[in-house]
Amino acid sequence: MKNVLTPALLFFFALVLMVPAMAEIIDDDTPVPPVGDWGGPDRVLTDVELEQWIRGRKVFDKDWRQFEGLGTPDMNADSCRACHQQPVIGAGGALDTNVTQFGNDNGGAGPFTELPGGLVASKLRRPDTPGREDADPAADLFEQRQTPSLLGAGLIDGIADSVILANEDPLDNNGDGVRGVARLIDTGSGLEVGKFGWKGQIPTVSDFVRDAVSNELGLTVFDDGRGFGLLTDADGIADPEMPIQEYEDLIFYNQHLAAPPRAGGAVAEGEALFTSIGCATCHIPELPGVNGPVPLYSDLLLHDIHDVDFRGTAEPDAPVGMYRTPPLWGLRESAPYLHDGRATTIQAAIEQHFDEAENSRLNYEALTASEREQLLLFLQDL
Ligand code: HEC
Ligand code: HEC
Repeated sequence: MKNVLTPALLFFFALVLMVPAMAEIIDDDTPVPPVGDWGGPDRVLTDVELEQWIRGRKVFDKDWRQFEGLGTPDMNADSCRACHQQPVIGAGGALDTNVTQFGNDNGGAGPFTELPGGLVASKLRRPDTPGREDADPAADLFEQRQTPSLLGAGLIDGIADSVILANEDPLDNNGDGVRGVARLIDTGSGLEVGKFGWKGQIPTVSDFVRDAVSNELGLTVFDDGRGFGLLTDADGIADPEMPIQEYEDLIFYNQHLAAPPRAGGAVAEGEALFTSIGCATCHIPELPGVNGPVPLYSDLLLHDIHDVDFRGTAEPDAPVGMYRTPPLWGLRESAPYLHDGRATTIQAAIEQHFDEAENSRLNYEALTASEREQLLLFLQDL
């Protein structure tokens, strides 16, 4: 037979070969990592809870199909795992899993405004989607958002709002140059601190899971009365598209992922430097949670640590340049760094600290080479 490998056939083989990289990675035989280990549960679970956790992990890994409600109009991927999988399922993602937000800021002169259709630029959209067929021509600002690790998120859920609010200092009354402010989100039944998302835009893990199910996968969710996620969409598939059992299992799994374990090296010197040069002012080593101290290395407040010429998105109560202090646990496995993933190393991330973090960056730059090495050893232990 001649001409067997036509371009169409080659394309077909390319598709088939691509599948393993994109396919599901969890099946019934996939072991559950030990409690407290990378990708394992956060505590000893009862048999019933463990079954739910295992089911939830499968939902997180599941490749959804269009007949189940995937997409339409928009989606970024067909599974949670597609982005949250490094170094283990449930953690973060590389640069190619970034999502994009956009709007107009008059070429940098400001103010930032959202364009019709919202902030999020969809990665994947059926060509027949009405409206926003292409990027809005008025868009002149595109902001990358790096996929963060979800390990330990449930522990952050258990930090009371009052604990976070106690560290606010928006007018810098204590004169240390740092002006942390909590972002308050209206959930319909009151204001709650936004503890999740790069701009502190979402209060709880379950709110974020709902938001992700709808905005990343394009699936509608069961109404829990708090206003996050889509209850209906434009396709003909019955709502809620994510069945209630899978929805509850997914949330349980996300609420019970262990925080990244410490490497366990002798890093006391670096840890002392971290505090003495002012890093711990924002990256607070631990906050009290419902079940004891949570070693997250964050105050969960918004700060502006960007240079004067920084251009980025703005949201209500989260102006241009304001981002939530990211937790530093698991840092050794969460590169690239910063909201847009522009820092490939920990040192590069530190060198991008300006404004509210100007003093601590200058202190860092004034360290001797061996002190800097100690600090880095500590950060790589987290
Ligand atoms: C296309 C990549 C992508 C997919 C798919 C995706 N996420 Fe995310 N996820 C992100 C990015 C990027 C962020 C940060 C968004 C922001 O703050 O602007 C995020 C943030 C989160 C957070 C908040 C974490 C924190 O500490 O702030 C949770 C929880 C989450 N995702 C859960 C999920 C779940 C559950 C799914 C599946 C339903 C999912 N994600 C699918 C990219 C993705
Ligand atoms: C004024 C508060 C503040 C201080 C002080 C501060 N940081 Fe940060 N740090 C932040 C914020 C906010 C971000 C996120 C900025 C962004 O993504 O645009 C950040 C990001 C980081 C990141 C990247 C984390 C990630 O997951 O992307 C590292 C690493 C880091 N800081 C380390 C340090 C070290 C080390 C010091 C001391 C030299 C320090 N920071 C001082 C607020 C602070």
